[in-house]
Amino acid sequence: MVTLTVNGQVIQAAEGQSVLHAALAAGVYIPHLCDHPDLEAKGGCRLCSVTVDGGDVPVPACTTTVAEGMVVDSRTEAAELTRRTSMELMLATHPADCTGCPKYGKCELQSLYQYMGVNGQDWRMKSRPVPNNDSNPLISHLFTRCIRCGRCIRACQDLRGVKVLDYIRDGVGVHAGVPGGKSLVEAGCRFCGACIEVCPTGSIVDAVGVMEKHPAYADNVVPCRAECPAHTNIPEYIRAVREGRPGDAVAIMREKLTFPLTLGYICNHLCETGCKRTDVNDPLSIRNLKRFAVENDKEQTWKGKGFMKPRTGKRVAVVGSGPCGLTAAYYLNKLGHDVTVLEKRPQLGGPMTSGIPAYRLPIEGVNAEIDYIIQSGVKYEVNHEVSDVAALKKDYDAVLVAVGVSKGKKLGFLPGANFDQVYTAIDVLADLRANKDISYLGKTVCVIGGGSVGFDAARSLVRKGLTVNLACIEPADKILADKEDQVEGAEEGVNILPGRSFEEIEGTQEKVTGLRVHTVKSSTYDRATGKVTEVAVEGSQTVIPCDSVIFATGQYTGLQDFENFGIELNRMGYPIDPETGKSGFKTSVEGIFAAGDAITGISFVIKAIASGREVTSVIDKYLGGDGDIEETLVERTADPHIGEFPGFGTLPRVEMDVIDPETRVKNGDENVYRTYTCEQAHCEAQRCLQCDLRLQLETVKLWNEYGGGE
Ligand code: FES
Repeated sequence: MVTLTVNGQVIQAAEGQSVLHAALAAGVYIPHLCDHPDLEAKGGCRLCSVTVDGGDVPVPACTTTVAEGMVVDSRTEAAELTRRTSMELMLATHPADCTGCPKYGKCELQSLYQYMGVNGQDWRMKSRPVPNNDSNPLISHLFTRCIRCGRCIRACQDLRGVKVLDYIRDGVGVHAGVPGGKSLVEAGCRFCGACIEVCPTGSIVDAVGVMEKHPAYADNVVPCRAECPAHTNIPEYIRAVREGRPGDAVAIMREKLTFPLTLGYICNHLCETGCKRTDVNDPLSIRNLKRFAVENDKEQTWKGKGFMKPRTGKRVAVVGSGPCGLTAAYYLNKLGHDVTVLEKRPQLGGPMTSGIPAYRLPIEGVNAEIDYIIQSGVKYEVNHEVSDVAALKKDYDAVLVAVGVSKGKKLGFLPGANFDQVYTAIDVLADLRANKDISYLGKTVCVIGGGSVGFDAARSLVRKGLTVNLACIEPADKILADKEDQVEGAEEGVNILPGRSFEEIEGTQEKVTGLRVHTVKSSTYDRATGKVTEVAVEGSQTVIPCDSVIFATGQYTGLQDFENFGIELNRMGYPIDPETGKSGFKTSVEGIFAAGDAITGISFVIKAIASGREVTSVIDKYLGGDGDIEETLVERTADPHIGEFPGFGTLPRVEMDVIDPETRVKNGDENVYRTYTCEQAHCEAQRCLQCDLRLQLETVKLWNEYGGGE
């Protein structure tokens, strides 16, 4: 250690440290601007001028190394003069309207001239009519605010090694930019955002809208992670895939997810909606990278890692074994509670094993993920339907209702809806998953409903050799299911009939003969009354001949069908918290909680997992724990030097290979897509902008954040 005196205060510093960093670390403020903790000091701005050992020639504190017994002063007349002159030069070409600057209130230049007691307005003499550049994706350059400190250039050239930004001279002077008038994409920018992060003024900023989607700064910097309901560390696992470490990628996923393989197949990938690469060309194929990593994780080193707290002696019953229930059971067991899952079906897994078709989600993969949860110590009972949840309180300290929405709805007002050969998609899908005989459907079916469950049923039945019509009220451009489902379903032979309204199921109680429909010209839905008003196309009435009709028109919890389930339910059958009058984790009975689709209505597996994690914390706190389920299953490494990559901005999204429609219909349960090869996964993973690296950069403290220490 070295002992020196700065502004009259004796401080300790590490050998080799700069005077500036030593003083700041000790809480002694020396003004500075071009210095940044993550960048090599260049001593350009001279705002950190100090005199050393009574000398009268100021030197930059950021490039002066500490020495034993050194006496440093930033307040001498010579140092102050140099600082003022530098500030004057900077402000001379800086725009006067600070209030219009995106960095207003957070600008280091503004903070500094306030510290120096300088009226910046008086010093501004020239204006530089350099146009702003808003033509690039994600990054805007407001050149007039550039003070030529070079931080962005050092970040781009040295820290990241991307080498896109440099000093450029044009008609109005020198500023940071892209030489040769190239766009950022043409120049090979990797859109990592380091230049934005280190810019002390509002010269290089996030494009309009980029930082306005979430309340938290970090969420706007890494929106994929923010938009994943479980907040999976997406850039970190994509980095591991790119570096050929699929096992580490899975460990990172497993810190937040109980069913990564399942999600790799069927996640609705909200993360991709947030991916910033969308503004450059196309979003990362995050779901497919997840599937690749799990299917290539041979070592499974994450197994057995993470916390396992001492047993608490508390007992918890989880009613329902879908993704929410099993996730909660897994974490509650790790928190030390004895957990028993009660499942009404003969197997665990909820929709993952009894609803989602095999061609979308291979059963072996789901079962392996369920087995891991059971092997961790969770007990279970299948074929155990709970009809009175309050009664469980006698044997358990806490109960979680995670029953999902496992009952299908029929449109009861439709004449014929109660005929024998009228079914719900959820029941048909359960029979298909259980390999039951489905000859009761006949040869031709009509599926009513254009959501993903309707398409799951329709596409599954085409694979069983049935003729399938799928009719829905929504027009073709508003069908609820994913575009993929619509395109692939049509390729496989599903006869999709959008814009149809249903008049009657024709036939008798014992034998359905057809579905009478007409074409809808327009329809409006009144949210208040729940009524649909429609205008029919004249003369469009027709009967679709069929042997059975399958409703895919919604699902419900089914809890209201029990005589008395033991907790307060709303009229739709969802548990409610009487304090709020809404569905939430708490119910009307203390110690009984609810989560997942049972409180939100039909949703996606990732949301159920997130809900299972959240309710775990609530239940653990109720049982006397701290509710903390965070864990790290693998150490992280992230090289900030990402290097040059010509053509990075135009790298196309790598899609998985699709099996041709004829083969996939013939092969039945085989997945429609082929997992990425290693090369495809690497190509796709290297498209990631690595937005998270930006959060590694230190935030520079303004002078008033040093607590006035001087
Ligand atoms: Fe030291 Fe700019 S901060 S010269």
